[in-house]
Amino acid sequence: MTPLERNDPEIFQIIMREKERQQHRLELIASENFTSRAVVEAQGSILTNKYAEGYPGKRYYGGCVNVDVVEELARKRARELFHAEHVNVQPHSGTQANMAVYFSVMIPGQTYLGMDLAHGGHLSMGHPKNFSGKIYRVVPYSVRPDNHRIDYDMVRDLARQHRPRMIIAGASAYPRIIDFKAFAEIAREVEAVLMTDIAHIAGLVVAGLHPSPVPDADFVTTTTHKTLRGPRGGMVMCKKEWAATLDSCIFPGIQGGPLMHVIAAKAVALAEAATEEFRDYQRRTVANAQALADALMEHSFTLISGGTDNHLVLVDLSDKGINGAEAQNLLEEAGITVNKNSIPFDPLPPAKASGIRIGTPAVTTRFMGPDQMRLIAAFIARVLTNRGNDQIIAEVKGQVRELCDQFPLYLDSGDGDNR
Ligand SMILES: Cc1ncc(COP(=O)(O)O)c(C=O)c1O
Repeated sequence: MTPLERNDPEIFQIIMREKERQQHRLELIASENFTSRAVVEAQGSILTNKYAEGYPGKRYYGGCVNVDVVEELARKRARELFHAEHVNVQPHSGTQANMAVYFSVMIPGQTYLGMDLAHGGHLSMGHPKNFSGKIYRVVPYSVRPDNHRIDYDMVRDLARQHRPRMIIAGASAYPRIIDFKAFAEIAREVEAVLMTDIAHIAGLVVAGLHPSPVPDADFVTTTTHKTLRGPRGGMVMCKKEWAATLDSCIFPGIQGGPLMHVIAAKAVALAEAATEEFRDYQRRTVANAQALADALMEHSFTLISGGTDNHLVLVDLSDKGINGAEAQNLLEEAGITVNKNSIPFDPLPPAKASGIRIGTPAVTTRFMGPDQMRLIAAFIARVLTNRGNDQIIAEVKGQVRELCDQFPLYLDSGDGDNR
């Protein structure tokens, strides 16, 4: 019996049920992944006990001798991995990483350009109920209606017209390469600060499968838990001249004590990300997304932008007589987890949405490959074209379970591998 099982059987049981859910369902949420046991171990460690306000060597508490080394290691590993001049590993989440940059660069009321939320932007890029839309004036740019690629002419025109203090390049639901150099050129022309958010694609950037914004951007933010496959958290990289401002905007600006157990887990994940095995994992993730895209199109699904260059596809369901929310629920019944997603120029509100977003990072961590992607596309097609047919849904659910059983996750062997 573990201490948790003994002391709090209620929570223990819920965690066991969640483990069972993760094992037996197909996790296709593009922003999720399965960390290694080593990451889980560091995050679940006694480092959670330590207060360490401040930065290594400049703490407001005593007893930081060990956590100082942890944070230095995390910073060094991140700097080397991304070739960044300066890194702050303390943001509790991706949204706080973004907030730290906004606070570093802008005063309330100033203007920035960000990707329209309905076209793939994240809520921390100007949602009216988020700080990013309340404190600042956001000018959204969108994708082109003909090919669903970012409309760089529009970005340039808006930049010239509004002279924003900052331009943000980065997205939550954009299946194509982002031309960071084009953004950098526009930012230079209008003398705006360039922030890029690589939360989704950080792992691809590390593996050289997506151009890195680090040489061109003033700031690069990321989450550590998506393709980077680390613990839930955020990170900011920046040019040297912004380092002191950024650090003070994170602490004491927007956060108190750093989560040292999470920072330790970030360090572990960053070391894993420096391996050839990780680069191979990213290559398989992208190859799987392409295989999934091709198979979905063979099943007559329409994909936004006609395919993918990265780890996700965005399916337009508007010609299928089903909306994103309905599709998400139906697939959930069959053991397939995706999320409803707005598509560019979506006539439906975000709560319904006309699309679903499907990502391959998590299933690729389980070592599924192109053959399994074709199977998954067939499952999705079968479920979505047989709405109301409980027998077929149950059949697919059984097949999903069988498939998952072939690719075990978090084996209880304790051997330290990812599965
Ligand atoms: C592009 C982008 N930036 C920031 C975030 C925010 O991350 P978090 O959920 O950790 O606040 C996300 C999360 O989905 C994202 O996709």
